[in-house]
Amino acid sequence: MDEQQWIAMDEYLCDRTQTPDEALEAALKSSAEAGLPAIAVAPNQGKLLQMLARLRGARRILELGTLGGYSTIWLARALPEDGTLLTLEAVEHHASVARKNIERAGLSSVVSIIVGDAVDTLEAFVRDSIPPFDFIFLDADKQSYPAYLRLVLRLSRPGTVIVADNVIREGRVADAQSRDPDVIGVRAFLDMLAKDANVSTTAIQTVGSKGWDGFSFSIVS
Ligand code: SAH
Ligand code: DHB
Ligand code: MG
Repeated sequence: MDEQQWIAMDEYLCDRTQTPDEALEAALKSSAEAGLPAIAVAPNQGKLLQMLARLRGARRILELGTLGGYSTIWLARALPEDGTLLTLEAVEHHASVARKNIERAGLSSVVSIIVGDAVDTLEAFVRDSIPPFDFIFLDADKQSYPAYLRLVLRLSRPGTVIVADNVIREGRVADAQSRDPDVIGVRAFLDMLAKDANVSTTAIQTVGSKGWDGFSFSIVS
């Protein structure tokens, strides 16, 4: 089994589960043209996130790591008209590409992009006691996942769903000796979840057009 087969299988699945979507396609195209890295979630992953947010009945969504707004669009479409999605992005160039993509998708009224280091933004949210989120997607820098978890738990309530991307990294996350800061960050994040009696967690490996990676899924009680 090799990556070519994973990609062929993803194409087959996306053919049968996705409908052509101008706003999503334009978001990927404009992100590539603006020089953003091609690290957005895959279409079938984006739809999974959207379906999970719908299942949760999410009215308030938090995303860490906007990039060009591709996953943002998937998630924001799970919201009711009066819902809210806050997405945090450190790089102004990424945020400006995302702003246009979100506008094109007709989602500007539900999405707010907050530019800055996500740790600083989350600390401000905690300080300001903003209302808790129903669904949280972690997808910014992996080194900071432990800091993000500590903070987003303070912005959660019973029933909040926390999904984290990239917790496998081609299997490197299983290497306890790794010196890769991303791997160390993800491992500390998974350890924190494992020790937290208030959170129920699973994690799933995925292969496909994004290579070998995966998500963790947690529910706060
Ligand atoms: N969620 C996007 C992909 C995000 S890629 C999608 O699937 O479509 C990760 C993003 O996190 C990048 O845009 C990067 O600039 C941003 N990022 C990295 N470090 C960050 C930090 N400390 N605070 C906020 N955003 C950060
Ligand atoms: C990287 C980041 C991501 O969020 C992702 O989905 C894939 C790769 C990265 O920084 O390499
Ligand atoms: Mg990711």
